[in-house]
Amino acid sequence: CGIVGVTGVGDALPYLLQGLQKLEYRGYDSAGVYLTDASGKNALIKEKGRVSKLAEKAKAHGFSGTAGIAHTRWATHGNVTIENAHPQKSADDRFFLVHNGVIENYKELTETYLQGVHLVSETDTEVAVQLVDKFSKDGMSTPDAFRKMISLLDGNSAYGFLLVDHEDPETLYVAKKKSPLLVGVSDHGNAVTSDAAAMIDLTKEFIELRDGDMAIVKPKSVVIYDAAGEEVNREPFTLEIDPEDTDKGAYPYYMLKEIDEQAVVARNISAHYFDEDGNLQGIPCAVTDTIQEADRLYIVAAGTSYHAGLVGKRYFEQWAKIPTEVHIASEFAYDQPMLSEKPFFIFLSQSGETADSREVLDNVKKQGYPALTLANVMNSTLTREADFALPVLAGPEIAVASTKAYTAQVLVQAILAASLGNPGFDLKAELAKVAVEIQAITDEKESFKKIAEDALKDQHSAFYIGRGLDAAVALEAALKLKEISYIQTEGFAAGELKHGTISLIEEGTPVFALLTQSKTAGLLRGEVAQVAARGANTIVFASEDLAKEGDAFVLPQVNELLMPLLAVIPAQLVAYYATLARGLDVDRPRNLAKSVTVQ
Ligand code: G6P
Repeated sequence: CGIVGVTGVGDALPYLLQGLQKLEYRGYDSAGVYLTDASGKNALIKEKGRVSKLAEKAKAHGFSGTAGIAHTRWATHGNVTIENAHPQKSADDRFFLVHNGVIENYKELTETYLQGVHLVSETDTEVAVQLVDKFSKDGMSTPDAFRKMISLLDGNSAYGFLLVDHEDPETLYVAKKKSPLLVGVSDHGNAVTSDAAAMIDLTKEFIELRDGDMAIVKPKSVVIYDAAGEEVNREPFTLEIDPEDTDKGAYPYYMLKEIDEQAVVARNISAHYFDEDGNLQGIPCAVTDTIQEADRLYIVAAGTSYHAGLVGKRYFEQWAKIPTEVHIASEFAYDQPMLSEKPFFIFLSQSGETADSREVLDNVKKQGYPALTLANVMNSTLTREADFALPVLAGPEIAVASTKAYTAQVLVQAILAASLGNPGFDLKAELAKVAVEIQAITDEKESFKKIAEDALKDQHSAFYIGRGLDAAVALEAALKLKEISYIQTEGFAAGELKHGTISLIEEGTPVFALLTQSKTAGLLRGEVAQVAARGANTIVFASEDLAKEGDAFVLPQVNELLMPLLAVIPAQLVAYYATLARGLDVDRPRNLAKSVTVQ
């Protein structure tokens, strides 16, 4: 979920709506805004669906306010309804609250403190705001009531809260733990936001709140208290962001722009991590020394980042000779496998905010193990809280379906592994070639558009198969296709098909085969023949050295271990064009959020 708030700005609504638009990547099931001014005039407007729908409704309402709070939701507790959208309010319309996170013990809190209070939503957030109201009615000041509510939350609860008290309308009460919140400061009003980029129209100066902090933000002042309740002084930093980076320019969708950017991203990464003579730079010795002391690497990640880790494993094992395991964060967090004696953790994350990964980082820090985060968003929670952090350098990724962050994560893992060992070839030169070939593949858009339209337009299911590194890429390829086109797609280690899943193959079922690994090319050809014999529509993407007549696309040849960087591109383009052909929103698939900050 995404949160924004402003106070003392003269005209609050445009800032809040702009902010919500930029936060839509954090969820877009429903959205809401509460507006007020110094006289206490106010309005609460909520809508299901996209921020644009809320914007229409709010503009029609006509009141803009000088202060307000707003929220874009990714549903956790309670269905997607207007009642469940935020802001939530107390029964007598005094307190209004927006919230990011999950209050695990909200049922117990309701039973203990809110007997007789009529709750109109199914949300944990309403419980929080009703608690503030109750403690206020018991005689507490608003900051004390807010603090008391927070003190009752289950110790594991991550939260970001933004509260307004109608009796002091231009004051914003803010609190956070394990959920990002920043305070934006300016001479013409102050702001609170989940992501600095959302408030860039008001200011570039931001103060980062720490876990356990509470802040009181007024039109001309910001006071911050730390977890112990002591007033603290935190210096603002200046956000450096090029507005063009977050603009889709002439592209119809961000996803296509981001697919096209991958060649440039590959070059940027090389320029950052190699000097002119081809020597590695930018990886502190402390990182490589600490990894060298480890007897095993544990890569932990979610979603696409997890898939990038499956490829990276190969580099760490083959080049650096360090045994490497790759784990899904949400599993590792509650089912920690038996660890080696000297583990080293690598967290992979585009956003640096994924709650599942943060939970694992928290756990392993408590156990005293060293950790490195590779993230696209530096200064994010996972980069701040790990011992070390290295940038992935993909640039802002806006489309929900991750593309350039995946290739960037694979690239940076390759470079890190090379800094720990020896790839046995000139990695810098080969990566330069990779960049050229990514460009060459993205220039073939018409081919992939045709493949997607012919093979997928009216399909309900599809498969991606491969062996070895191609099996890892098949998982990412399948995720891309299913998450935006809603075609149920399975990514499969090809040899496993015959052990059960082959029974799903019907006349015309599309089976995409990724064929870039010489050791298993013959076997994979056999598997393609097996599904073709059962009626599948087989579409082979093969590398130049292994291609045969009839293959749907020939991938340019680079070092085999780097072929995932090329093999994934057709899959991204096929997913994109299949989704367009089905008339769906490529950038904003249903039910998803780009950054999932709840567990
Ligand atoms: C969400 C996104 C995925 C992403 C995953 C992990 O589910 O929709 O695209 O791969 O989170 O995100 P991270 O920011 O940690 O890479």
